[in-house]
Amino acid sequence: METAVPEKNLDNMVRKPENVPADCVVDFNLHQPIPDGKSAHEFWRELISQASRPVMWTPHNGGHWIVIEPGLCETVLTDSEHFSSRVVIVPREPIGETYSNFIPLSLDPPEHAPYRKILNDNLGPKQINRLKDEVSGLAVELIEGFRAKGRCNFVHDFAEQLPVRIFMRLVNLPEEDLPKLKYLADQFTRPDGTIEFHEVEKQFRDYIGPILRERRGGSGDDMLTRMANAEANGRPLTDLEAENLSIQALVGGLDTVVNLLAYVFSHLAVNDELRRTLASDPARLEESMNEFLRRFPVVSDSREVRKDVEFGGVTMKARDMVMASTIAIAMNETSNADALDFRFDRKTRRHSVFGRGNHTCPGMYLARLELKMVLTEWLARIPEFRLAKGTSLTFTSGIVATVDPFELEWDV
Ligand code: HEM
Repeated sequence: METAVPEKNLDNMVRKPENVPADCVVDFNLHQPIPDGKSAHEFWRELISQASRPVMWTPHNGGHWIVIEPGLCETVLTDSEHFSSRVVIVPREPIGETYSNFIPLSLDPPEHAPYRKILNDNLGPKQINRLKDEVSGLAVELIEGFRAKGRCNFVHDFAEQLPVRIFMRLVNLPEEDLPKLKYLADQFTRPDGTIEFHEVEKQFRDYIGPILRERRGGSGDDMLTRMANAEANGRPLTDLEAENLSIQALVGGLDTVVNLLAYVFSHLAVNDELRRTLASDPARLEESMNEFLRRFPVVSDSREVRKDVEFGGVTMKARDMVMASTIAIAMNETSNADALDFRFDRKTRRHSVFGRGNHTCPGMYLARLELKMVLTEWLARIPEFRLAKGTSLTFTSGIVATVDPFELEWDV
């Protein structure tokens, strides 16, 4: 397929290079609204079913490969000898290169490990399990705040509140700073064109730098104090390293669980049988967790090819970008039969919702805890709910896919 490069090239559209076979080309733009009211998962499902090869290529967002086959996606995420995580976001310019200033995602082994250890020490199961009462307490407080009204905007009133407020407590930052930080974090995952990327980076640094310097030498138990005083490679982190590590943790912590919750609850609102099963039998919640995580991955990251390589039937050139979406892994029928169906009883379940290999999400314990507590507390208090009359679901793609804000209602 030959795709014309538009005169006004807003999304870094490029011409097909020589090394890309013509039958690999597909018209795919991660940063554009998803067409025809499809969810990100339905969209990827369709892309996969129409793909003629295990690896495709799109001229959008600087031109990049799209890995279709799940095993190859997993290789891209784990084989750091061939696929570097120096740049993980398309388009490389300007967004990917800006994001590559933050760590540890932009580091390959062995440089990655000492910084990653700091995250593991802060976000491991022991630290996160201590938050259980706080997470369920906040879930109950939020739910009770709107339960008597019989309706809420699920995204604004709940999904955007709970995980980010818990995260702000974890890093001991004031809740009034939330809107600014969330706006900045969202620019990396779903840029809205309202601000330049160097300005996003500058504003993050202007905000977090002084806080980290103030917390140096402090004895606080919050994650930022611990990062400000952490060591890597046998010496204290420099100010810049502490900033780069903290900013990445903020971006990871502020935009992901929000969207997972939005997907899960939009699904429950229109699937009465599943919702009633979970509400009437809390024991099944545990079983449902893995299927929710399989069914609703949201992250589509990429890698940068280190040197020319034959991969998936094509020749990739050094510096090419290769997308290995966690959605592609789960939505392929070879991974999961009837991938769009939610099924408790899958014999096997293949997904990488939290990534694979060295960069597997350190926030996964927190994400799992939040999902479980939210389902438990919500279904105990509002077991019956539906999309509010006149509401239809629409979806936005991006590095982190999301459901646009929607209203729920229930009888009171
Ligand atoms: C449902 C929620 C979440 C999902 C689906 C998710 C997904 C992911 C994925 C797929 C990766 C790997 C990216 C890659 O290899 O390119 C990742 C890495 C990362 N995530 Fe998460 N994440 C979630 C929650 C969180 C939370 C709550 C935090 C922070 C508290 C966080 C912080 C990070 C960081 C810092 C990395 C980079 C790790 C490294 O490079 O070693 N994530 N996440």
